[in-house]
Amino acid sequence: MLVEPLVLLVLLLAEVGALQNGFRLPQLGWNSWNHFGCGVTEQDVRSTADAFVATGMKDAGYEYVNVDDCWMAMNRTAEGKLTHDPQRFPSGMKALANYVQGKGLKFGLYSARCGKTCQGRPASQDHEWVDAETFASWDVDYLKYDNCMECKYGYTSEAYIMQVTRMGDAIRAAGRPIFYSTEMGGAKFGPDICNSAREGSDISPSWERILYELDVGAKYADMAGPGFHNDLDMLEVGNGNLTPEEERTHFAIWSIMSSPLLAGNNLTAATPELIKILTAKGPLSVNQDSLALQARLCSNGTDAAGGLWEVYAKSLAHGATAALLLSRNASAAVNITLSFAACNVSAKATVITDLWSGEVLGGSSHMGWSAVVQPHSHRLVRIAPPERDF
Ligand code: GLA
Repeated sequence: MLVEPLVLLVLLLAEVGALQNGFRLPQLGWNSWNHFGCGVTEQDVRSTADAFVATGMKDAGYEYVNVDDCWMAMNRTAEGKLTHDPQRFPSGMKALANYVQGKGLKFGLYSARCGKTCQGRPASQDHEWVDAETFASWDVDYLKYDNCMECKYGYTSEAYIMQVTRMGDAIRAAGRPIFYSTEMGGAKFGPDICNSAREGSDISPSWERILYELDVGAKYADMAGPGFHNDLDMLEVGNGNLTPEEERTHFAIWSIMSSPLLAGNNLTAATPELIKILTAKGPLSVNQDSLALQARLCSNGTDAAGGLWEVYAKSLAHGATAALLLSRNASAAVNITLSFAACNVSAKATVITDLWSGEVLGGSSHMGWSAVVQPHSHRLVRIAPPERDF
C-alpha cells in the first residue's frame, strides 16, 4: 500500500526528532495513583496484574502495571540507593516486578527529577545513575519521572531539560529498555528526551478537568509522532462521578489525541460496563494507529445558546482519518458538521464507520458528515477509502 508522500514526510520528520529507544506507540497500562494514592500496597498491585488477565485488559493490549509515588522508603540505604517501603511493599520491587512480568505484563515505577517526590519521599536529583541502575537491576520496564519538591536547580525549562536528559542518559547507560514518561507541565519539550510528557497539571474525575486536559494537550499536537506522545494524564474512567457517557467521551478524547491510556481505577472492582469502555476496539485502534499522530482541532462552533462544539481529526495509516465530534458544554443536543475540507479528509475516503459500534454509517456527501450530539457526548468515526478487490 502506498503511503501518501506528505504523510510520509511528516512521519520521517517526527522520527528524526524522537528519542530513539525503540518505543513508538502510546503506552497502554494502569497506574496506581488516581485510585490508591499514597496508600498503595504490593497486594493491590498483584491483584491488579491478576485483574489485567481476568478482565481482558491484557488481551486488549494493556501491558504496563505502574506503581506511582510512595513505593519507596523515606530514606535511601547506607549505599545511597532507593529502597522499598518496608510496610506496604515488604517483598521488594524486584519480586513485584517479576510477579507482574510472570503474567506476561510489564512493570513500571515512579521517581522525580528533584530532591523529593510530591509526597515527600526521596527522589532522583543527583542520583540519576545509581537510580537508573537500581531500576534496571529490579527489571523495571517503565519510569514515570515527576517534577515536585526541593528542586536544587530550580523550576526553569532549562533545569527540567537538564535533569530529565540526565535521567534519560542514565537509563540508556543502564542498558535495559525502559519506557520513559515525564511530567513537565507545559515545558514545551519532549520528543528528543522522553517518550511521553504531561503538559497539564493533575487530572481529577470531573468533566471540566477532562476538557482542561484536552485543551492543554491540544496545544502541543505538533510534537507528537512515533516515539513521543503528549500525556493528557491518567484515565479517570471508573473514578468519581462522571456519567457513563462522560466516561466514554473521556476515553474517546484520549484515544484520538494519542495520549497514553493508563487506566486509573480499581481494576479488581471494575464493572463489565467499565471494562467495555477501556477495551473498546475502535477507540483503541485509533490510539494505536501506526502513524502515531495526534488529532488536531479542525473546526468548532457554538449553538444558539452559546454551547461550544468542536471537531478533532487525525490521519491514520492507509489514507484513513479518525474524527471526533465533541459537544463540550451545550445544554441541548447540537448538530455538528465534520467538514472534509477543514479536517483534511482525503477525497478518496468515503466509507464512514462508527468506532464504538462498528456500524457503517450513511449520510455523507463529498463535503462532509453531520450528526446530532447530546451534551457532554461525542461521535468517534473513521473515514476510509473503500476496500479494493484488485
Ligand atoms: C504529582 C503527579 C501525579 C502523581 C503525584 C504523586 O501530583 O502529577 O500524577 O504522580 O504527584 O505524588
